[in-house]
Parts: sequence; C-alpha cells; structure tokens
Amino acid sequence: MRVAVVYESMFGSTRLVAEAIAKGLTAGTDVRVMGVADAPDVLDGFDLLVVGGPTHAWGMSWPSTRRGATLRVGKPGSDLVLEPGADVGPGLREWLASLGGVDVRAAAFDTRIKSPVLFTGRASRSIGRHLARLGLTVVAPPESFLVDKESHLLPGELDRALAWGVQLSAVAEGAPTGRD
Ligand SMILES: Cc1cc2nc3c(=O)[nH]c(=O)nc-3n(C[C@H](O)[C@H](O)[C@H](O)COP(=O)(O)O)c2cc1C
Repeated sequence: MRVAVVYESMFGSTRLVAEAIAKGLTAGTDVRVMGVADAPDVLDGFDLLVVGGPTHAWGMSWPSTRRGATLRVGKPGSDLVLEPGADVGPGLREWLASLGGVDVRAAAFDTRIKSPVLFTGRASRSIGRHLARLGLTVVAPPESFLVDKESHLLPGELDRALAWGVQLSAVAEGAPTGRD
C-alpha cells in the first residue's frame, strides 16, 4: 500500500503527529510524509491519503491566521519556533482547492487545544469534508490530537497518533473505494 501523509504545521506539533502516524502505518506500507508546500496536486498512485493541520479559528488555517501565528513567535516567555516556510504557505485550504478529483482512500486529523470541541472547533472536520467533496473515500472519522494553550503537544498524544496510524492501516486495507 502506498500512503501519503500531508501536513500543515506552524510550530511543529502537527508535523510530529504526522510523523508518528506514519510510523504506525509503516508495516507493509510505503509511506511518504510531506509538508503541504511539497505535496503534489496529483495524487494518482497513492492508495491512502492522510491529511492533517492545526486548528485555527475553529477550522483550517487562513493566510490571516498564519500571520497571527507568526506573531506568537519571539514573544516574551514563548519558546515557539516557526517551521521552515510556514509563514509563506500554502496552507491545507489552498492545497485542497488546487487538487483535482481523485479516487483514493483518505483520513483527516488535526491538532487543537484540549477543551470541549464546542469551544475549540476542529480542522479535521472541514479537511474530511473537503476530501469527500473531491471524491476521496474517507475511511475513518476525523481525529484530533491535543495541545496545550502554548501549542505544545500534551503527553501521550504521539503514542495515540502512532496507534491511530496502526488502526488506519487495517481500516484502509479493507475499505473499498469507488474504483472497487
Ligand atoms: C492564529 C491561531 C488561531 C488558533 N485558533 C485555534 C482554535 O480556534 N481552536 C483551537 O483548538 N486551537 C487554536 N489554535 C491553537 C492551534 O491549534 C495550535 O497552535 C496548533 O495545534 C499547533 O500545531 P502546529 O504546531 O502544528 O502549528 C490557534 C492558533 C493560532 C496561532
């Protein structure tokens, strides 16, 4: 099975989650982990696409929220470091808009602050909706991995991401797509 894990990340937390998911997926799979700026807009040849990003303003990032994120770096008391190129974009929203329709299995995840979802929103929900609209077969409910108010992953979240990757392999293997 060929898998692409495509992530957007401002401060590195979503990248770490993407890498942990890929580690969970690896048994018997050929996994490529790509920042969204490096992701191709033609996805033929992959059997599973896993897409994740940070929750900004209750959903996927916008250019304005990415600018807001860059302003958090370097503030007194902040140890946040910007991921290379994160200030330039594109974000997932722009990448998804550039994708052609493709018949591939898919799953969505996000990172978000630990608080009831009513207050935080979750980017994975709109990522999943975009993927379905493009004709991909979404094989798992959207999943969130939690950060604290400073955007650092909470303890145990990378283990949970790895376990989600393992679970996705099993689900994706058995799930039919429109092609089947
Ligand atoms: C401009 C901005 C808006 C944010 N809005 C939300 C939000 O609505 N809900 C939430 O749970 N987290 C919000 N966050 C926190 C992000 O989800 C958090 O920074 C992200 O998960 C960290 O992942 P990253 O290091 O991969 O960027 C926001 C962060 C920024 C910078």
